[in-house]
Amino acid sequence: MDRRGFVTSGMAAGLVGASGSAGTLAALLERTPGIGPGRRLPSGEIRLSSNENPLGISAAAKEALLGALVDANRYPTAYRGPLIDGLAQYLGVKPTNITLGFGSTEILQVATHAFQGPNVPLVIAEPTFEDINDYQDTAPFEVIAIPLTADLQHDVGRMREAASRRPSVVYFCNPNNPTGTITSSRDIDNWIADAPATTTFVMDEAYLEYVTDDSFWPSLKWIEQKPNVIVVRTFSKIFGMAGLRLGYAVSHPNTAARLDEFTVQNSPNVLAGAAGLASLTDNGVVSRGVAVNEESKAIVHTTLDELGLEYLPTNTNFLMHRINGELGTYIGRMREAGLLVGRPFPPMLEWNRLSFGLPNEMDQWASALKDFRKKGWV
Ligand SMILES: Cc1ncc(COP(=O)(O)O)c(C=O)c1O
Repeated sequence: MDRRGFVTSGMAAGLVGASGSAGTLAALLERTPGIGPGRRLPSGEIRLSSNENPLGISAAAKEALLGALVDANRYPTAYRGPLIDGLAQYLGVKPTNITLGFGSTEILQVATHAFQGPNVPLVIAEPTFEDINDYQDTAPFEVIAIPLTADLQHDVGRMREAASRRPSVVYFCNPNNPTGTITSSRDIDNWIADAPATTTFVMDEAYLEYVTDDSFWPSLKWIEQKPNVIVVRTFSKIFGMAGLRLGYAVSHPNTAARLDEFTVQNSPNVLAGAAGLASLTDNGVVSRGVAVNEESKAIVHTTLDELGLEYLPTNTNFLMHRINGELGTYIGRMREAGLLVGRPFPPMLEWNRLSFGLPNEMDQWASALKDFRKKGWV
Protein backbone atom coordinates (compact mmCIF):
# COMPACT_ATOMS: atom_id res chain seq x y z
CA MET A 1 0.00 0.00 0.00
CA ASP A 2 1.23 3.47 -0.79
CA ARG A 3 1.21 5.13 2.58
CA ARG A 4 2.30 8.47 1.16
CA GLY A 5 -1.10 9.01 -0.40
CA PHE A 6 -2.74 8.11 2.89
CA VAL A 7 -6.22 9.44 2.38
CA THR A 8 -8.01 6.73 0.57
CA SER A 9 -11.02 6.25 -1.55
CA GLY A 10 -11.84 3.52 -4.00
CA MET A 11 -9.93 0.98 -1.91
CA ALA A 12 -12.73 -1.50 -1.70
CA ALA A 13 -12.29 -2.68 -5.26
CA GLY A 14 -9.43 -5.00 -4.33
CA LEU A 15 -10.96 -6.38 -1.18
CA VAL A 16 -12.87 -9.59 -0.80
CA GLY A 17 -16.39 -10.17 0.37
CA ALA A 18 -17.74 -6.64 0.14
CA SER A 19 -21.25 -7.86 -0.36
CA GLY A 20 -23.32 -10.81 0.73
CA SER A 21 -21.75 -10.50 4.15
CA ALA A 22 -24.36 -12.40 6.14
CA GLY A 23 -23.84 -15.51 4.03
CA THR A 24 -20.08 -15.37 4.39
CA LEU A 25 -20.24 -14.93 8.13
CA ALA A 26 -22.76 -17.74 8.46
CA ALA A 27 -20.45 -19.99 6.46
CA LEU A 28 -17.53 -19.02 8.65
CA LEU A 29 -19.43 -19.74 11.83
CA GLU A 30 -20.59 -23.05 10.41
CA ARG A 31 -17.02 -24.08 9.69
CA THR A 32 -16.07 -23.30 13.26
CA PRO A 33 -18.69 -24.82 15.55
CA GLY A 34 -18.74 -23.46 19.05
CA ILE A 35 -17.90 -19.91 18.07
CA GLY A 36 -20.70 -17.40 18.25
CA PRO A 37 -20.93 -13.66 18.15
CA GLY A 38 -20.76 -11.77 21.42
CA ARG A 39 -24.05 -10.45 22.75
CA ARG A 40 -25.48 -7.02 22.11
CA LEU A 41 -25.41 -4.45 24.89
CA PRO A 42 -28.41 -4.73 27.25
CA SER A 43 -29.59 -1.37 25.86
CA GLY A 44 -29.83 -2.99 22.40
CA GLU A 45 -27.30 -0.54 20.97
CA ILE A 46 -24.50 -1.76 18.75
CA ARG A 47 -21.12 -0.70 20.09
CA LEU A 48 -18.77 0.36 17.31
CA SER A 49 -16.75 2.70 19.49
CA SER A 50 -14.28 0.72 21.60
CA ASN A 51 -12.29 -1.42 19.16
CA GLU A 52 -13.60 -4.62 20.73
CA ASN A 53 -13.81 -8.03 19.07
CA PRO A 54 -17.47 -8.68 18.23
CA LEU A 55 -16.96 -12.45 18.08
CA GLY A 56 -16.55 -12.76 21.84
CA ILE A 57 -14.08 -15.14 23.46
CA SER A 58 -13.16 -18.39 21.75
CA ALA A 59 -14.99 -21.63 22.51
CA ALA A 60 -11.86 -23.03 24.16
CA ALA A 61 -11.55 -19.94 26.34
CA LYS A 62 -15.21 -20.14 27.34
CA GLU A 63 -14.88 -23.75 28.36
CA ALA A 64 -11.71 -23.05 30.36
CA LEU A 65 -13.33 -20.07 32.02
CA LEU A 66 -16.38 -22.07 33.08
CA GLY A 67 -14.08 -24.81 34.39
CA ALA A 68 -12.16 -22.26 36.44
CA LEU A 69 -15.29 -20.95 38.18
CA VAL A 70 -14.89 -23.59 40.88
CA ASP A 71 -11.62 -21.88 41.84
CA ALA A 72 -13.16 -18.44 42.19
CA ASN A 73 -12.85 -18.71 45.99
CA ARG A 74 -9.09 -19.34 45.71
CA TYR A 75 -6.27 -16.90 45.06
CA PRO A 76 -5.14 -17.30 41.46
CA THR A 77 -1.57 -18.55 42.08
CA ALA A 78 -2.16 -21.85 40.29
CA TYR A 79 -3.19 -20.06 37.09
CA ARG A 80 -0.37 -17.57 36.83
CA GLY A 81 2.58 -19.91 36.18
CA PRO A 82 0.89 -21.95 33.44
CA LEU A 83 -0.28 -18.77 31.71
CA ILE A 84 3.22 -17.29 31.75
CA ASP A 85 4.70 -20.56 30.48
CA GLY A 86 2.04 -20.87 27.76
CA LEU A 87 2.56 -17.29 26.67
CA ALA A 88 6.33 -17.74 26.54
CA GLN A 89 5.88 -20.78 24.34
CA TYR A 90 3.37 -19.00 22.11
CA LEU A 91 5.75 -16.07 21.61
CA GLY A 92 8.99 -18.06 21.50
CA VAL A 93 10.48 -16.22 24.50
CA LYS A 94 11.40 -17.17 28.08
CA PRO A 95 8.94 -17.01 30.97
CA THR A 96 11.27 -14.47 32.60
CA ASN A 97 10.59 -12.08 29.71
CA ILE A 98 6.93 -11.74 30.62
CA THR A 99 5.09 -9.32 32.90
CA LEU A 100 1.33 -9.77 33.22
CA GLY A 101 -1.05 -6.85 33.61
CA PHE A 102 -4.69 -6.01 34.26
CA GLY A 103 -5.06 -5.38 30.54
CA SER A 104 -2.17 -3.85 28.67
CA THR A 105 -3.24 -0.53 30.12
CA GLU A 106 -1.80 -1.64 33.49
CA ILE A 107 1.49 -2.24 31.71
CA LEU A 108 1.40 1.32 30.36
CA GLN A 109 0.83 2.65 33.87
CA VAL A 110 3.54 0.41 35.29
CA ALA A 111 6.04 1.52 32.62
CA THR A 112 5.33 5.12 33.61
CA HIS A 113 5.93 4.41 37.29
CA ALA A 114 8.98 2.24 36.71
CA PHE A 115 10.84 4.40 34.21
CA GLN A 116 9.63 7.99 34.32
CA GLY A 117 10.43 10.69 36.84
CA PRO A 118 10.48 14.46 37.21
CA ASN A 119 13.40 14.61 34.78
CA VAL A 120 12.32 11.76 32.53
CA PRO A 121 9.58 12.94 30.16
CA LEU A 122 7.19 10.91 28.08
CA VAL A 123 7.52 11.43 24.34
CA ILE A 124 4.36 10.52 22.44
CA ALA A 125 2.63 11.13 19.15
CA GLU A 126 -0.50 13.25 18.73
CA PRO A 127 -3.06 11.87 18.32
CA THR A 128 -2.31 8.48 19.83
CA PHE A 129 -3.87 6.09 22.36
CA GLU A 130 -4.58 8.20 25.45
CA ASP A 131 -3.93 5.88 28.40
CA ILE A 132 -0.19 6.36 28.94
CA ASN A 133 -0.73 10.10 28.81
CA ASP A 134 -3.61 9.84 31.30
CA TYR A 135 -1.32 8.08 33.78
CA GLN A 136 0.81 11.22 33.92
CA ASP A 137 -2.02 13.11 35.64
CA THR A 138 -1.05 11.98 39.15
CA ALA A 139 2.64 12.69 38.64
CA PRO A 140 4.36 15.93 37.76
CA PHE A 141 6.01 14.39 34.72
CA GLU A 142 6.52 16.19 31.47
CA VAL A 143 4.78 15.02 28.30
CA ILE A 144 6.20 15.97 24.93
CA ALA A 145 3.56 15.40 22.24
CA ILE A 146 4.75 15.42 18.65
CA PRO A 147 2.11 15.60 15.88
CA LEU A 148 1.93 12.71 13.44
CA THR A 149 3.51 13.36 10.04
CA ALA A 150 1.40 14.34 7.03
CA ASP A 151 1.08 10.64 6.11
CA LEU A 152 0.05 9.85 9.69
CA GLN A 153 3.15 8.07 10.89
CA HIS A 154 4.84 8.85 14.19
CA ASP A 155 7.34 11.60 13.43
CA VAL A 156 10.35 9.47 14.33
CA GLY A 157 12.85 12.24 13.57
CA ARG A 158 11.18 14.81 15.82
CA MET A 159 10.48 12.31 18.57
CA ARG A 160 14.12 11.28 18.48
CA GLU A 161 15.25 14.86 18.73
CA ALA A 162 12.92 15.47 21.70
CA ALA A 163 14.16 12.34 23.48
CA SER A 164 17.83 12.99 22.81
CA ARG A 165 18.22 15.77 25.39
CA ARG A 166 17.81 13.56 28.49
CA PRO A 167 16.59 10.14 29.63
CA SER A 168 13.08 9.67 28.23
CA VAL A 169 10.25 7.20 27.84
CA VAL A 170 9.10 6.98 24.22
CA TYR A 171 5.68 5.54 23.40
CA PHE A 172 5.10 4.03 19.96
CA CYS A 173 1.56 2.86 19.24
CA ASN A 174 2.02 0.80 16.11
CA PRO A 175 -0.45 0.45 14.43
CA ASN A 176 -1.58 3.76 15.88
CA ASN A 177 -4.87 4.24 17.65
CA PRO A 178 -6.96 6.26 16.65
CA THR A 179 -5.66 6.57 13.06
CA GLY A 180 -5.13 2.84 12.35
CA THR A 181 -1.97 3.76 10.46
CA ILE A 182 1.48 2.18 10.50
CA THR A 183 4.81 3.78 11.30
CA SER A 184 7.69 2.22 9.38
CA SER A 185 9.35 -0.38 11.59
CA ARG A 186 12.60 0.26 9.74
CA ASP A 187 12.62 3.89 10.90
CA ILE A 188 11.90 2.84 14.48
CA ASP A 189 14.52 0.09 14.36
CA ASN A 190 17.17 2.53 13.18
CA TRP A 191 16.53 4.63 16.24
CA ILE A 192 16.39 1.71 18.69
CA ALA A 193 19.67 0.35 17.32
CA ASP A 194 21.49 3.62 18.12
CA ALA A 195 19.59 4.87 21.17
CA PRO A 196 21.27 5.13 24.58
CA ALA A 197 20.11 2.76 27.32
CA THR A 198 18.44 5.73 29.01
CA THR A 199 15.82 5.98 26.25
CA THR A 200 13.06 3.52 27.15
CA PHE A 201 10.87 2.39 24.25
CA VAL A 202 7.32 1.31 25.04
CA MET A 203 6.12 -0.48 21.90
CA ASP A 204 2.34 -0.90 22.01
CA GLU A 205 1.33 -3.61 19.53
CA ALA A 206 -2.29 -4.08 20.59
CA TYR A 207 -3.50 -4.55 16.98
CA LEU A 208 -0.57 -6.59 15.67
CA GLU A 209 -2.65 -9.47 14.28
CA TYR A 210 -4.70 -7.21 12.02
CA VAL A 211 -1.71 -5.68 10.21
CA THR A 212 -1.46 -6.10 6.44
CA ASP A 213 1.16 -3.43 5.65
CA ASP A 214 4.57 -5.05 5.30
CA SER A 215 6.45 -1.97 6.44
CA PHE A 216 5.44 -3.09 9.95
CA TRP A 217 7.10 -5.90 11.83
CA PRO A 218 6.96 -6.76 15.54
CA SER A 219 9.55 -5.39 17.98
CA LEU A 220 10.04 -8.63 19.91
CA LYS A 221 13.43 -9.26 18.32
CA TRP A 222 14.95 -6.46 20.43
CA ILE A 223 14.16 -7.67 23.89
CA GLU A 224 17.25 -9.76 24.63
CA GLN A 225 19.81 -7.29 23.33
CA LYS A 226 18.02 -4.09 24.38
CA PRO A 227 16.73 -3.97 27.98
CA ASN A 228 15.28 -0.54 27.14
CA VAL A 229 12.63 -2.02 24.82
CA ILE A 230 9.26 -3.02 26.30
CA VAL A 231 6.78 -4.69 23.96
CA VAL A 232 3.16 -4.32 25.08
CA ARG A 233 0.44 -6.73 23.96
CA THR A 234 -3.15 -7.51 24.93
CA PHE A 235 -5.76 -10.27 25.00
CA SER A 236 -8.48 -7.61 24.53
CA LYS A 237 -8.45 -7.38 20.74
CA ILE A 238 -7.89 -10.47 18.60
CA PHE A 239 -8.62 -12.79 21.56
CA GLY A 240 -11.84 -10.93 22.40
CA MET A 241 -11.15 -10.73 26.15
CA ALA A 242 -11.54 -6.98 26.78
CA GLY A 243 -13.94 -7.62 29.67
CA LEU A 244 -11.62 -10.06 31.39
CA ARG A 245 -8.65 -7.65 31.52
CA LEU A 246 -5.44 -9.37 30.54
CA GLY A 247 -2.41 -7.85 28.89
CA TYR A 248 1.32 -8.25 29.17
CA ALA A 249 4.75 -6.87 28.49
CA VAL A 250 7.63 -8.74 26.88
CA SER A 251 11.06 -7.40 27.75
CA HIS A 252 14.56 -8.32 28.92
CA PRO A 253 14.42 -10.33 32.20
CA ASN A 254 15.91 -7.40 34.15
CA THR A 255 13.31 -5.05 32.71
CA ALA A 256 10.53 -7.56 33.27
CA ALA A 257 11.59 -7.90 36.92
CA ARG A 258 11.55 -4.12 37.32
CA LEU A 259 8.08 -3.86 35.76
CA ASP A 260 6.84 -6.70 37.95
CA GLU A 261 7.73 -4.73 41.09
CA PHE A 262 5.11 -2.15 40.11
CA THR A 263 2.27 -4.50 39.18
CA VAL A 264 -0.53 -5.39 41.54
CA GLN A 265 -0.34 -8.64 43.52
CA ASN A 266 -2.48 -11.71 42.75
CA SER A 267 -3.05 -10.94 39.13
CA PRO A 268 -4.52 -12.07 36.83
CA ASN A 269 -7.73 -13.42 38.30
CA VAL A 270 -8.56 -17.10 37.81
CA LEU A 271 -11.03 -16.52 34.96
CA ALA A 272 -8.69 -14.32 32.94
CA GLY A 273 -5.83 -16.72 33.62
CA ALA A 274 -7.76 -19.76 32.44
CA ALA A 275 -9.31 -18.06 29.40
CA GLY A 276 -6.01 -16.48 28.36
CA LEU A 277 -4.14 -19.77 28.37
CA ALA A 278 -6.93 -21.55 26.49
CA SER A 279 -7.08 -18.79 23.86
CA LEU A 280 -3.47 -19.45 22.96
CA THR A 281 -4.20 -23.08 22.24
CA ASP A 282 -7.23 -22.36 20.04
CA ASN A 283 -5.59 -22.49 16.64
CA GLY A 284 -8.41 -20.88 14.68
CA VAL A 285 -8.99 -17.88 16.88
CA VAL A 286 -6.62 -15.46 15.17
CA SER A 287 -7.50 -16.35 11.56
CA ARG A 288 -11.22 -16.31 12.39
CA GLY A 289 -11.00 -12.89 14.02
CA VAL A 290 -8.99 -11.49 11.12
CA ALA A 291 -11.37 -12.96 8.50
CA VAL A 292 -14.47 -11.44 10.10
CA ASN A 293 -12.65 -8.15 10.54
CA GLU A 294 -11.70 -8.10 6.84
CA GLU A 295 -15.28 -8.78 5.89
CA SER A 296 -16.58 -5.93 8.02
CA LYS A 297 -13.82 -3.65 6.78
CA ALA A 298 -14.83 -4.33 3.18
CA ILE A 299 -18.43 -3.30 3.94
CA VAL A 300 -17.18 -0.08 5.49
CA HIS A 301 -14.88 0.66 2.54
CA THR A 302 -17.63 0.01 0.01
CA THR A 303 -20.06 2.26 1.86
CA LEU A 304 -17.62 5.13 2.27
CA ASP A 305 -16.55 4.83 -1.37
CA GLU A 306 -20.17 4.96 -2.47
CA LEU A 307 -20.75 8.11 -0.45
CA GLY A 308 -17.41 9.64 -1.43
CA LEU A 309 -16.31 10.03 2.20
CA GLU A 310 -12.54 9.91 2.68
CA TYR A 311 -11.02 7.38 5.06
CA LEU A 312 -7.60 6.40 6.29
CA PRO A 313 -5.97 3.07 5.44
CA THR A 314 -6.27 0.80 8.43
CA ASN A 315 -4.19 -2.02 9.88
CA THR A 316 -6.55 -2.55 12.79
CA ASN A 317 -10.16 -3.37 13.70
CA PHE A 318 -11.28 0.25 13.23
CA LEU A 319 -10.82 3.13 10.84
CA MET A 320 -11.17 6.89 10.70
CA HIS A 321 -13.41 8.52 8.13
CA ARG A 322 -14.64 11.99 7.28
CA ILE A 323 -18.11 12.98 8.43
CA ASN A 324 -18.59 16.33 6.65
CA GLY A 325 -20.00 17.86 9.81
CA GLU A 326 -19.65 18.37 13.54
CA LEU A 327 -18.42 15.27 15.38
CA GLY A 328 -20.63 15.55 18.48
CA THR A 329 -23.74 15.96 16.32
CA TYR A 330 -22.74 12.99 14.18
CA ILE A 331 -22.12 10.75 17.21
CA GLY A 332 -25.44 11.84 18.72
CA ARG A 333 -27.34 11.04 15.52
CA MET A 334 -25.70 7.64 15.24
CA ARG A 335 -26.68 6.93 18.86
CA GLU A 336 -30.28 7.78 18.00
CA ALA A 337 -29.99 5.21 15.20
CA GLY A 338 -28.85 2.64 17.82
CA LEU A 339 -25.15 2.77 16.92
CA LEU A 340 -22.40 3.84 19.30
CA VAL A 341 -19.50 5.26 17.31
CA GLY A 342 -16.36 7.31 17.92
CA ARG A 343 -15.25 9.88 20.41
CA PRO A 344 -13.22 13.06 19.90
CA PHE A 345 -9.54 12.61 19.07
CA PRO A 346 -8.17 16.14 18.85
CA PRO A 347 -6.95 17.57 16.58
CA MET A 348 -8.77 15.24 14.14
CA LEU A 349 -12.23 16.56 14.91
CA GLU A 350 -13.52 16.26 11.36
CA TRP A 351 -13.02 12.51 11.47
CA ASN A 352 -14.91 9.74 13.24
CA ARG A 353 -13.25 6.57 14.52
CA LEU A 354 -15.42 3.59 13.66
CA SER A 355 -14.75 0.17 15.23
CA PHE A 356 -15.63 -2.87 13.15
CA GLY A 357 -18.42 -5.04 14.52
CA LEU A 358 -19.93 -8.10 12.89
CA PRO A 359 -20.68 -7.80 9.17
CA ASN A 360 -24.43 -7.58 9.78
CA GLU A 361 -23.80 -4.80 12.30
CA MET A 362 -21.76 -2.95 9.69
CA ASP A 363 -24.68 -3.36 7.28
CA GLN A 364 -26.84 -1.53 9.83
CA TRP A 365 -24.24 1.18 10.16
CA ALA A 366 -24.09 1.46 6.34
CA SER A 367 -27.82 1.95 6.01
CA ALA A 368 -27.81 4.55 8.81
CA LEU A 369 -25.02 6.45 7.05
CA LYS A 370 -26.82 6.32 3.70
CA ASP A 371 -29.91 7.65 5.43
CA PHE A 372 -27.80 10.48 6.87
CA ARG A 373 -26.68 11.30 3.34
CA LYS A 374 -30.30 11.50 2.16
CA LYS A 375 -30.96 13.98 4.95
CA GLY A 376 -27.90 15.99 3.96
CA TRP A 377 -26.10 15.29 7.26
CA VAL A 378 -22.88 13.80 5.90
C1 LIG B 1 -3.22 0.86 21.38
C2 LIG B 1 -3.91 0.33 22.58
N1 LIG B 1 -3.18 -0.09 23.61
C3 LIG B 1 -3.75 -0.58 24.71
C4 LIG B 1 -5.11 -0.65 24.83
C5 LIG B 1 -5.69 -1.13 26.12
O1 LIG B 1 -6.03 -2.42 26.02
P1 LIG B 1 -6.29 -3.33 27.30
O2 LIG B 1 -7.69 -3.73 27.18
O3 LIG B 1 -5.32 -4.46 27.12
O4 LIG B 1 -6.01 -2.56 28.53
C6 LIG B 1 -5.93 -0.24 23.79
C7 LIG B 1 -7.39 -0.31 23.89
O5 LIG B 1 -8.14 0.11 23.08
C8 LIG B 1 -5.30 0.28 22.64
O6 LIG B 1 -6.00 0.74 21.59
